[in-house]
Amino acid sequence: MKIIIAEHYDELCKLSAVIIKEQIQAKKDAVLGLPTGSTPVGLYKQLISYYQAGEIDFSKVTTFNLDEYAGLSPSHPQSYNHFMHEQLFRHINMQSSHIHIPQGNNPQLEAECKVYEELIRQAGGIDVQILGIGANGHIGFNEPGSDFEDRTRVVKLSESTIQANARFFGGDPVLVPRLAVSMGIKTIMEFSKHIVLLASGEEKADAIQKMAEGPVTADVPASILQQHNHVTIIADQKAAQKLREASYS
Ligand code: F6R
Repeated sequence: MKIIIAEHYDELCKLSAVIIKEQIQAKKDAVLGLPTGSTPVGLYKQLISYYQAGEIDFSKVTTFNLDEYAGLSPSHPQSYNHFMHEQLFRHINMQSSHIHIPQGNNPQLEAECKVYEELIRQAGGIDVQILGIGANGHIGFNEPGSDFEDRTRVVKLSESTIQANARFFGGDPVLVPRLAVSMGIKTIMEFSKHIVLLASGEEKADAIQKMAEGPVTADVPASILQQHNHVTIIADQKAAQKLREASYS
């Protein structure tokens, strides 16, 4: 696990954008795994500026998002589908048929999960999987206690995640869906060739310390990344402040 400590959020965004740019330059039809949330917003802005400067061509790129709220239509303003189009896809030259986000309002949600898993397999896996991390150590919507063998499935959001995500629903936790579709931990671990986890801010400091230096445990789902052979953690100084090893760059 390589840990890079960025001086601040902007540097974190640039470092992660360069990883994606180099991946697409090396392989035009790269497959990317993408998160939503606050952390990747600056990364997506940076990718848009690379595209506008002619440094990245997204026309052959394929993407798979990590998760989506259950019950929200793709056009719902708080859906992850809507978020991704606003923050990234509508600004770049992705082909819409190459964009994959679980359809949260599919009445056959279990079947949706199986098909999603199969689509990732057929794409040949994910070249670069970007992850955020919850303050409780979750990745995707794999909350503490999730099984490391889990595949894409319907999940129940933890109370702390509902509270954390209420900010996207006008601050009202009652409006946050209780269920979501999420790639499972096994999906992420098995299909991702390179995992890049981003963390910004002191509210992530405990999770980053436990993930990188604590035991591998279902109580901290991100800790499983210690067992993946190609992981890069990019944390800003606030998120990295509780790491105890001195040797991180
Ligand atoms: C979102 C996702 C979540 C977030 C995590 C951090 O697609 O999978 O695991 O990455 O909750 O969210 P932010 O970046 O908002 O702190």
